[in-house]
Amino acid sequence: MARTVYVNGDYVAEGDAKISVFDRGFLFADGVYEVTSVLGGKLIDFDGHMRRLKRSLGELQMAMPLPEDELLAIHRELVSRNAVIEGLVYLQITRGVADRDFLYPSATPQTLVLFTQSKSIVDSPLAKRGARVVSVEDLRWGRRDIKTVQLLYPSMAKMIAQEKGVDDAWLVQDGHVTEGTSNNAYIVTRDGTIVTRDLSSDILAGITRAAVLECARTLQMKVEERPFTIAEALEAREAFTTSATGFVCPVVEIDGVSLGEGQPGPVANGLRQIYVETSLKAAI
Ligand code: PDD
Repeated sequence: MARTVYVNGDYVAEGDAKISVFDRGFLFADGVYEVTSVLGGKLIDFDGHMRRLKRSLGELQMAMPLPEDELLAIHRELVSRNAVIEGLVYLQITRGVADRDFLYPSATPQTLVLFTQSKSIVDSPLAKRGARVVSVEDLRWGRRDIKTVQLLYPSMAKMIAQEKGVDDAWLVQDGHVTEGTSNNAYIVTRDGTIVTRDLSSDILAGITRAAVLECARTLQMKVEERPFTIAEALEAREAFTTSATGFVCPVVEIDGVSLGEGQPGPVANGLRQIYVETSLKAAI
């Protein structure tokens, strides 16, 4: 059965979902997106994703296309129509359709698209075995705090990782790790401190990051938000990433060097379990 997707007010079969060739998302990557995970048919941290969406739009002088409760209703309707038990809802908003011009058009209706993907997130083979990553120079633009759809460099970096036979890349700028291609990056030092880069325009403020750091602090774990180098990561006891599509994913190898025991470690595994339990309780 064809998936139902949402396009500008209509629920349509995916084959009938169409966007103009003049859409600024297509011509300029002039759009933002959010990915909200679904567990047990419910949305994880929907409010956090909406807060970040509003901020991304605001930074690009765009408004919310619909009130938050209507966006929630669309998310739920798609989860229900597509019988998603576990997976994600993808939402994209672009500045809309206008003749090609670098300047923003005024008063153009935005394009709003949502679709779902079913996938196992909790029972993930990658999380069980732990990811292997390589470091790649971070050549993305300077406003990574805005969740725009211009994802070509993350794609290139993932291709580099694939060519090297590993799972993902960690991006490095001025000798320090910014984040993963589509996740936030962490190490656990020898004394058990969780280190992840502080928030700035260098990285995306992950919604999973905020929730996982709160879990860690509740558990009285020591957390430091600061840049770290690959050299420091190679000395770490553990490493992991967080994202809506991977939750907490252990990292067991960086640039061909095994970390600790070369297996997912107790901090990453523990945080993963606690994050899943906590977010399931709060899911809507
Ligand atoms: N990516 N950093 C980057 C560059 C990301 O693209 C993402 C998410 C994150 C983690 O953010 P969150 O915890 O809110 O998912 C960090 C999504 C999942 C994607 O592009 O598919």
